[in-house]
Amino acid sequence: MRTVSVIVCGFGRVGRAFADLVDSHAEVLAERYELHAQLVAAVDIGGAAVSPGGLPIPELLAHVESGGAPCSFGAHGRPGLSGVQAIEDPGADVLVETTPTNLDDGEPGRRHILAALGQGMEVVSATKGPLVLYYREIHDRAAEMGCGVHISAATAAALPTLDVGRVCLAGARVLSAEGILNGTTNYILTRMHTEGCEYGEALEGAQARGIAETDPTLDVEGWDTANKLVLIANRVFGASGGPGDVSVEGITGVTPSDVAGAVSVGRVIKLLGTAKVAGKGGGVTLAVAPVGLERSHPLAAVSGSEKALSYLTDTMDRVTVMGGRSSPQGAAAALLKDLINAFV
Ligand code: HSE
Repeated sequence: MRTVSVIVCGFGRVGRAFADLVDSHAEVLAERYELHAQLVAAVDIGGAAVSPGGLPIPELLAHVESGGAPCSFGAHGRPGLSGVQAIEDPGADVLVETTPTNLDDGEPGRRHILAALGQGMEVVSATKGPLVLYYREIHDRAAEMGCGVHISAATAAALPTLDVGRVCLAGARVLSAEGILNGTTNYILTRMHTEGCEYGEALEGAQARGIAETDPTLDVEGWDTANKLVLIANRVFGASGGPGDVSVEGITGVTPSDVAGAVSVGRVIKLLGTAKVAGKGGGVTLAVAPVGLERSHPLAAVSGSEKALSYLTDTMDRVTVMGGRSSPQGAAAALLKDLINAFV
């Protein structure tokens, strides 16, 4: 049995769902992978809960869910301890980074990730800001330290976008990738389509279900899709783009009459992220926009908060993956998947 010690930075919905999975799926980890994951620190903005021998997860979750903070968790509480301090002391085998996505400067995720790589730790990240803004810096530092940076949870989470693109399509030339990569916008567009409701009412439903980002602007203006698209293009096409390389249009301008107009000509409006190899030079063009898809398109039937990605290749033709839960638990499951695959 291998024990893997884990620090979680960011103890919001996704961080807590991850801790819960580590606890509730301990038997699966032990029986199938001979792994024992122990949570040695949980960090949020006010400080941390720390225990080098492993925190009692059910008690910690009960404490936080009843209004407490990690830093006030009894004898384990360490008020004011920062993420970087927790990463450097007590240290661990892996950082699970789940702080909110910050597209201004990528912080605090960037400093957590670089500190973890500096300690030779594996990194598993749901946080997109540092990955899209500092992709090359993080990639190069990880290579220098011989560590992995695993980003399934930042690239549509429970939908296996990177695993399919990198493992299942190995050896094929990937010509394009088209995706419905954001659960919130697909949920909103689906409700506008099926119920004829207004955009604002449908957005409230997405927020109530915990699908939308902390700031739903990222979802509805297309930036969450753009960020995932950039990361998929970087990992699958070997590109090294950033958000500035994507032409982005969200769904805030889509009206019930646009939706009805599409229906009247047999189409359905979806927010699509598209990466296309442009010519022989191998450059990749990236775009996010609402598109009226014909009913026969493989992504037309993807509804509600479901997501999907359709790759077109030279030797394997079209390969489409669909599904995966859009929720904090789905994101947490993608973090756990990456952690397992990093250590087995
Ligand atoms: N808010 C995102 C979505 C999940 O709606 O799919 C996090 O990327």
